Amino acid sequence: MPSLKIIERAIQKREHLFKSTQTNAFRLFNGAGDNCEGLIIDYYDSFVLLQLYDSSLYHDYPKICNDCKKILSSLQIPVNGILLKDRTKVNDPRHIAKLRTSILVDGDLPPDNFAIKQNGIAAYVDLIHGQNTGVFLDMRKVRETLVNYYRNGGRLCNLFCYTGLFSVHALKNGLQCAVNVDISQTVLNRAKQNYVLNDIRYDLRDFTKMDCRQYLKRQVKQKALFDFVIFDPPTFSRNKKQNFSVKTHYRDYLSFIERITQGGYALTTINAVSISVRDYRLLHPQHWKLEFLEHEPEDFPSKNLPYLKAGLWKIP
Ligand SMILES: C[S@@+](CC[C@H](N)C(=O)[O-])C[C@H]1O[C@@H](n2cnc3c(N)ncnc32)[C@H](O)[C@@H]1O
Repeated sequence: MPSLKIIERAIQKREHLFKSTQTNAFRLFNGAGDNCEGLIIDYYDSFVLLQLYDSSLYHDYPKICNDCKKILSSLQIPVNGILLKDRTKVNDPRHIAKLRTSILVDGDLPPDNFAIKQNGIAAYVDLIHGQNTGVFLDMRKVRETLVNYYRNGGRLCNLFCYTGLFSVHALKNGLQCAVNVDISQTVLNRAKQNYVLNDIRYDLRDFTKMDCRQYLKRQVKQKALFDFVIFDPPTFSRNKKQNFSVKTHYRDYLSFIERITQGGYALTTINAVSISVRDYRLLHPQHWKLEFLEHEPEDFPSKNLPYLKAGLWKIP
């Protein structure tokens, strides 16, 4: 069980993050990197989400919850509610939805249409249902660094777009147009809601429900050109039409991306400790020039090498 001291040290290390005017959601405790394997604590604008990856921590959550409350209150940080999500391994996929539904352990549930702020943009988050909340907290530094490149405007193709936050952020920082591609209609609907939340007008052509490989093939055929492509795929995914795995498909995707981004930029990511920075770089064509390479931000400390490799490449 993590002691009060361990949690206190982790939260104190992040005290400066509470002062940001641009972001009010970030990680407070990152498992082994903060000295307790299996425990994740995130802060979403006055709501705390505890996630347990290790069932042995289950008995301790009331104490963890109390410790968090005590520490945050001593720092005068508001806490309106604390939720708990089970992230332990599920053997039977039929039980996953129920198991991943958070329970309220203290205070109130977040209001309907609860939104947080990341990098100056607003994003709806769902702290209750499913595995992911709608925003990836570890992308903060990447989005921040991208701002410099958006100033001259241009068109973005956001592949594996999820809730569309790369697009919203790009459109708020200088780009004129973005297309969002994802296999899931549910996340595309959430992306549209994030556009509205940020006062961005959209057109139905800005959202395409399709397998990203199929979409890229079509764009190559139509000789489409974009100034930016975001390629932030899951490490592995399966759908009716096509599986995606970094190991087998990454290079293939990059060759399509190159053909629709000549003279532009591609942000490519890998979210796996098992793929080193060297291997990540080697996946890319030699003639692409790396502009920057970011990793997870400081609130995601780790005992291992960084898992996130997010590089912006200039494509000649
Ligand atoms: C890791 S998330 C992308 C995160 C997103 N870039 C962000 O920063 O918010 C993965 C997304 O890929 C989508 N996806 C998985 N396989 C796909 C495929 N073959 N084609 C299109 N979308 C896919 C999922 O529906 C999910 O929304």
